[in-house]
Amino acid sequence: MRRTMVAGNWKMHGTRASVAELINGLRHLALPSGADIAVFPPCLHITQVVDGLKGKSIQVGAQNSAVEAMQGALTGEIAPSQLVDAGCSYVLVGHSERRQMMGERDGTLNRKFAAAQACGLIPVLCIGETLEQRESGKTLEVVSRQLGSIIEELGVGAFAKAVIAYEPVWAIGTGLTATPQQAQDVHAAIRAQLAAENSDVAQGVRLLYGGSVKAANAVELFGMPDIDGGLIGGASLNADEFGAICRAAGN
Ligand code: 13P
Repeated sequence: MRRTMVAGNWKMHGTRASVAELINGLRHLALPSGADIAVFPPCLHITQVVDGLKGKSIQVGAQNSAVEAMQGALTGEIAPSQLVDAGCSYVLVGHSERRQMMGERDGTLNRKFAAAQACGLIPVLCIGETLEQRESGKTLEVVSRQLGSIIEELGVGAFAKAVIAYEPVWAIGTGLTATPQQAQDVHAAIRAQLAAENSDVAQGVRLLYGGSVKAANAVELFGMPDIDGGLIGGASLNADEFGAICRAAGN
């Protein structure tokens, strides 16, 4: 039985003051014991969040990390080992905003994924198609290629200690959510691709859905058999809304 997970990606939002307010809101939440909860603040605020959430069962992750595991001469980057030292447990790899706006390609993402795991961080691999790709019937091909890149480079066993987030690009920040059935179809295909290599890994890995998840649609999405929780953007900046989504995953 897979434990559900809800992850809040704060993206490039927050000041020290607004982060303090959000931490306060999160500390007051009634969280379900049946789900793992994590938040991904901007790097600048990670230590503030780790300190502020001490004693609360919310893990902290980073939104990005370097291609090298250990600290060294790599200006402007943050090593996975430094994130572990700061108290992180997870890191996002390959969010579509980084693929599209920062030009991150599969080769780079394979290195980031491996470097993170080398330090004991759990990578959350983000995959998903654009609207154009969906409309031209290429959804499964795109998602399978993004997933296949890691499998080919690192082996399917890499997913024994990783999470996958399916985030259709057209549903991110748009208010357009994939229907539960649309998301389920892609999640089932992701699990089948893993199962073709190793069924234990496929059954154990958590597949999160991301893209305009709110408290109002979370129960239906998380009710699908291959959806094990969510990666939440905008709604994770509101503690009460985020708490309601967490409870949808935990009950
Ligand atoms: P929204 O929930 O704001 O659509 O963002 C989803 C996302 O990109 C999470 O990583």
